[in-house]
Amino acid sequence: MIDKDKRKFLISSTVVIGSIGIAAGTYSLVRYMGLSEKAKTLGGPVNIDYSKLKPGELLTTSWRGMPVWILRRTAEMIKKLEQGELKSRLRDPASLVESQQPKYTQNNVRSLKPEILVAVAVCTHLGCIPKFRPLISESFKVSDWPGGFYCPCHGSSFDLAGRVFK
Ligand code: FES
Repeated sequence: MIDKDKRKFLISSTVVIGSIGIAAGTYSLVRYMGLSEKAKTLGGPVNIDYSKLKPGELLTTSWRGMPVWILRRTAEMIKKLEQGELKSRLRDPASLVESQQPKYTQNNVRSLKPEILVAVAVCTHLGCIPKFRPLISESFKVSDWPGGFYCPCHGSSFDLAGRVFK
């Protein structure tokens, strides 16, 4: 024999619990989409005023939680890069292997404006933050150093266009 009261109760319970589940799912979805918009904003372009940077000066800022360098290269630095003086010392001078460079940076200075280098300041080896070493100094004596970035973690080095040395 069918207990109609029991059946009614079970159907009502199922409807109520199902409605709560749908409401919770919709809330989570809407909330997720909201976060996605926020994430998009955080990952979008940023405006940095580098007008006060003097030739040879480096500014460190951040983008998507990563440190980013903006270097105003000197005329001497640009000349060295444009003439390709260091090509034989670079592992991949034209960035042909697994390049993530935008088309407009596929040149000897790897930038849109020769005087401005913009680079994510994270070592391609294991993610340390390299040091800006434009010159040989008392604390940084590497023979035949042409200027660039040096990673203190395991010794990787990069030229003033961010290309890794052999
Ligand atoms: Fe930079 Fe290893 S993390 S050399």
